[in-house]
Amino acid sequence: MEIPNESFQEIIEGKTKLLVPKKSITEKVPPKKPAFFNPKAKLNRDFSVIAYAAFLKNFQGPKIFLEGLSGIGARGLRVANELKVESIVINDLNPTALKIAEYSAKLNNLSNVEFSEKEVCRFLSNYSKKGERGSIVDIDPFGSPAAFFDCGIRATMHGGILSTAATDLQVLNGLFQGACKRKYGGIPVRTEYGNEIAIRLILGCLRIVAARLGVEIIPMFVESDMHYYRTYVKVLNRRDLQENIGYILHCKNCGHRKITLEQEQECELCKLKISIAGPLWIGKIFNKEFIQNMILEILNLQIDKVCEKTLHKCLAESEMPGTYFTLDEIASKMKSSPPKLENAILNLQKNNFLASVTSFSPTGFKTDAKINEIIKIFQTIR
Ligand SMILES: C[S@@+](CC[C@H](N)C(=O)[O-])C[C@H]1O[C@@H](n2cnc3c(N)ncnc32)[C@H](O)[C@@H]1O
Ligand SMILES: [Zn+2]
Repeated sequence: MEIPNESFQEIIEGKTKLLVPKKSITEKVPPKKPAFFNPKAKLNRDFSVIAYAAFLKNFQGPKIFLEGLSGIGARGLRVANELKVESIVINDLNPTALKIAEYSAKLNNLSNVEFSEKEVCRFLSNYSKKGERGSIVDIDPFGSPAAFFDCGIRATMHGGILSTAATDLQVLNGLFQGACKRKYGGIPVRTEYGNEIAIRLILGCLRIVAARLGVEIIPMFVESDMHYYRTYVKVLNRRDLQENIGYILHCKNCGHRKITLEQEQECELCKLKISIAGPLWIGKIFNKEFIQNMILEILNLQIDKVCEKTLHKCLAESEMPGTYFTLDEIASKMKSSPPKLENAILNLQKNNFLASVTSFSPTGFKTDAKINEIIKIFQTIR
């Protein structure tokens, strides 16, 4: 038990006690030394706990969590302490981070946690044989997770969950298109719904790597905020025969957008040149039943209230067409103030269009109406 001195402090996150470097709490940007811990990532760890709980509830196989890039082990220790798992392996290259994690494991009387100090791909390769894989594998690096997709997929058992995080937002949001093409194999277009495009680029890259390995991925849940994009996919050891890689076509002139298998050059509505994002994932990004199960699990967990609100939005948009509009975007095209979101959605539905809120934006909505149809309907709302 030794570690504590004045540069460390005990906190509680969820139901779990964590020893963390004091500076990670007091400084604006949490330092990487002596070990990395970001208190602001509590919300995404809350979502992880909910998603893993929903998965574990219905999973029959061995319950093993492999955390590839653990930092001080906040996510893995919470899984060990707050969920029913058989074993957890916490891996990081930083030995100090692991010592802190070991200390916290003792604080919580956890006996099912192992520690590993390896480069993440070497670590995951140890678990890539059939019968030795993890049922939940998490990849949470600084920056892009794309370099770890191969080893992450190989270390996830049939029917298991692979979760990934990306923090290279400038790359995924279209500031460095060349870098995005190199890392994720597709290019973004800068739009109001850039966060959804980013998530679809990550999923597209995962799908292409998985398909190369003869594996299928099924997105269960995705989540983003100003600082990160997280994806949760089910991994199945079978060929993926679905056509789920394509493009988002976006017209910067009239705002029309379309998800397609093939590239097109011209906007259907205004006939001007259209911008092309992709190749990227064009299939569903939320699994309705999984989100319902996540909502049910909330009752048993100690997580931020915001999670439930967000999950209800995910549920509402789970069967909706991809991409969303924002009220501001439509209002600026109409040159008048926007209607209330609830009103906008109700009026679209009254006109026989699908319409829902979206977890991607507080003023966003998903619909199968085209932008010209949306504007027409909004002009009737007073
Ligand atoms: C973003 S932090 C992880 C945060 C943690 N998952 C959490 O939820 O608090 C990334 C971690 O990856 C570790 N790391 C960086 N490169 C690595 C590599 N190639 N192999 C293993 N660990 C690595 C760093 O030491 C750091 O602790
Ligand atoms: Zn157009």
